Amino acid sequence: MASSASAEPILEVSGLVKHYPLTRGILFRKQIGAVKAVDGVDFTLHRGETLGIVGESGCGKSTVAKMLVNLEKPTAGEIRYKGEDVTGLSGKALRAVRRNIQMVFQDPYTSLNPRMTVGDIIGEPYEIHPEVAPKGDRRKKVQDLLDVVGLNPEYINRYPHQFSGGQRQRIGIARGLALRPEVIVADEPVSALDVSVQAQVINLLDRLQSEFDLSYLFIAHDLSIVRHISDRVGVMYLGRIVEIGRDAEIYDHPTHPYTQALLSAVPVPDPEAREHRERIILAGDVPSPTNIPSGCRFRTRCWKAQQRCELEVPALAVPAEFRLATGPAAHASACHFAEEKQVVPPEEPPGKSQDDHGDGAP
Ligand SMILES: Nc1ncnc2c1ncn2[C@@H]1O[C@H](COP(=O)(O)OP(=O)(O)OP(=O)(O)O)[C@@H](O)[C@H]1O
Ligand code: SF4
Ligand SMILES: [Mg+2]
Repeated sequence: MASSASAEPILEVSGLVKHYPLTRGILFRKQIGAVKAVDGVDFTLHRGETLGIVGESGCGKSTVAKMLVNLEKPTAGEIRYKGEDVTGLSGKALRAVRRNIQMVFQDPYTSLNPRMTVGDIIGEPYEIHPEVAPKGDRRKKVQDLLDVVGLNPEYINRYPHQFSGGQRQRIGIARGLALRPEVIVADEPVSALDVSVQAQVINLLDRLQSEFDLSYLFIAHDLSIVRHISDRVGVMYLGRIVEIGRDAEIYDHPTHPYTQALLSAVPVPDPEAREHRERIILAGDVPSPTNIPSGCRFRTRCWKAQQRCELEVPALAVPAEFRLATGPAAHASACHFAEEKQVVPPEEPPGKSQDDHGDGAP
């Protein structure tokens, strides 16, 4: 998305863990285990870049997002914002950080309060941060935000049900922008929308990124959605990132068997390429996050698993065999037997044909 991503880190996440206790008993609650929703996640988000996070349902993507915006407290690990650990902050210091890291939610139908006007929804963050917009300025600020996301500023007194899905997501984005954050965590922001509307919302996010110098963490369950908007992509499996790298490294030179399997399921428009593409069908289901396999957590579904995979946890690092290379295979992959494999044919860059700004009256 942003070709000018600088090397300056804005968010650094290390060893991030969220375990939800599993308890039994009514009177004397006893912990009998834990749902290991997030189980040791590391990544860095650089200023101005878009990092896509993908993985199957239940792998912990939303839990990571919620910890980043402080809707959930981590069980362990560190989240550094501009170099400062923000996990233990409270009061004023916490509010200042929260202002700069905002979230856009998946479902524009349920995430907007149906009883509030659009003006109140977008302006709600100003109640908590009145310093950003004194009361007298709020209406004008909200109207400017409506304009910025391509909605008519005159709609300020309308209610969410008077808008289409795509327009509602624009309202959600306007609310996310209200406090002028530096980071937007977008949790599947287009998954609930029709394909044609998805492209419009993605183009809008792209434009806003350069206009407001935003850094995005963009969550999706489908590799094909994040392809065109991400500078880098991290693939999650059962609470951990198993492979992370630049867009072309992940799509054209994946080295982790799980990424290769996911890519083999991505739709390929060219019928000839589709015919020659190898489909990798994974055995079995994703194990329960209450009972994570020893060693490599992917081993129960991996066609390459060997005894070492059962005994040793593979670290997320550039695999030894690629460490001296400078090519696209030299990116971090948590696999003892990482091997480059091109699963989908390289793509032409897409044209941006969809309307990027404004949509008519609801
Ligand atoms: N409050 C909670 N208490 C117990 N378990 C939870 C809680 N929230 C999430 N989980 C569990 O943690 C795991 C990760 O959930 P999460 O919502 O982060 O997944 P996800 O990758 O966002 O999935 P999806 O693609 O379906 O949105 C799931 O097994 C989920 O059931
Ligand atoms: S470490 Fe072993 S089980 Fe895990 S992905 Fe690599 S080959 Fe498969
Ligand atoms: Mg989710």
